[in-house]
Amino acid sequence: MSVQPTREDKFSFGLWTIGWQARDPFGTETRPPLDPIEAVHKLSELGAYGITFHDDDLVPFGSDAPTRDGIIAGFKKALDETGMVVPMVTTNLFTHPVFKDGGFTSNDRSVRRFAIRKVLRQMDLAAELGAQTLVIWGGREGSEYDSAKDVYAALERYREGLNLLAQYSEDKNYGLRFAIEPKPNEPRGDILLPTAGHAIAFVQELERPELFGINPETGHEQMSNLNYTHGIAQALWHKKLFHIDLNGQHGPKFDQDLVFGHGDLVNAFSLVDLLEHGPVGGGPVYEGPRHFDYKPSRTEDMTGVWNSAIANMRMYLLLKERAQAFRADPEVQEALRASKVLELETPTLNQGETYQDLLSDRGAFEDYDADAAGAQGYGFVQLHQLALEHLMRARG
Ligand code: GCO
Ligand code: MN
Ligand code: MN
Repeated sequence: MSVQPTREDKFSFGLWTIGWQARDPFGTETRPPLDPIEAVHKLSELGAYGITFHDDDLVPFGSDAPTRDGIIAGFKKALDETGMVVPMVTTNLFTHPVFKDGGFTSNDRSVRRFAIRKVLRQMDLAAELGAQTLVIWGGREGSEYDSAKDVYAALERYREGLNLLAQYSEDKNYGLRFAIEPKPNEPRGDILLPTAGHAIAFVQELERPELFGINPETGHEQMSNLNYTHGIAQALWHKKLFHIDLNGQHGPKFDQDLVFGHGDLVNAFSLVDLLEHGPVGGGPVYEGPRHFDYKPSRTEDMTGVWNSAIANMRMYLLLKERAQAFRADPEVQEALRASKVLELETPTLNQGETYQDLLSDRGAFEDYDADAAGAQGYGFVQLHQLALEHLMRARG
């Protein structure tokens, strides 16, 4: 298998990733601005198929209408020239001071109205560019102090705002799907909808839940010390994996936004295996864009930026190759059976069996040898060793 990315791999990058000038809370930028048009051409050359952006990444906040139109026209021309697509867009509700207490859930009602207007305008652009997904990352929706935010009311306002977006998309026939991106903290001390699970639960309370899913980011789940592959599996199970942000993170600390696979490599391996092949016992695969949301480290110059973009795609393709070898290995299949991983597909009750039947099955309880079942070994360590040997290319 080749590690040369192609359009079929559906790799996409945020304009804010390769375009990040590496300003952080402790230091100034270390890199020059990147022209969005150059970004489109360069990413296309490297084998990506898509580019995504916040409204303000493309058109600086506060630009007048002619400036905005000119920038968008130039960007569209670059898309046409390269065949690059815009599968997703998102709205910046976090940089300008107006959003310091949030957008949809700011305590100030006028800010909430302004935030909704800003998103509606970005939805118009989404439709114009053919984007299917609008990501909603509420980095400023939250608080530092429990006394400062009525979380109950904030969730009501969040719901009100999101219901309105869905209504707008319906009325305008935009056909957009909305993906909420969870994050536990940073920039706020505590962000609302902090994990994939919180976001999935919230979505069920919306007027049009079928239009809403999630955009889980590797590092954001791992900042909470959660297993990202488990989170993605649950999102698939709920049919809520609308989009994905791939990157790298070393456990609970600040949001590192490293290259995909440069954090928890073992978890990245199981993730790619799941995305590409679906659950071992059968189930849906993820068909959307493989979107990288990372920050090229502050130490890198522009050569390093492009190398890091390549690194994301190579890591994904290398892991995909390793995952294919893992699945195809007969010894792995045997170990999966021996570990009863595949037995989990079998329903616990027989077809048509009731709890009455279960109650009268002495073999299930009265005559059950719990000690014998408790004494069996599952062989999970051997199975995982096989997985790691495939990951390390020590096998197949
Ligand atoms: C982060 C987030 C953001 C969002 C993006 C989409 O690193 O905290 O991932 O990059 O994904 O702003 O709105
Ligand atoms: Mn992040
Ligand atoms: Mn993200």
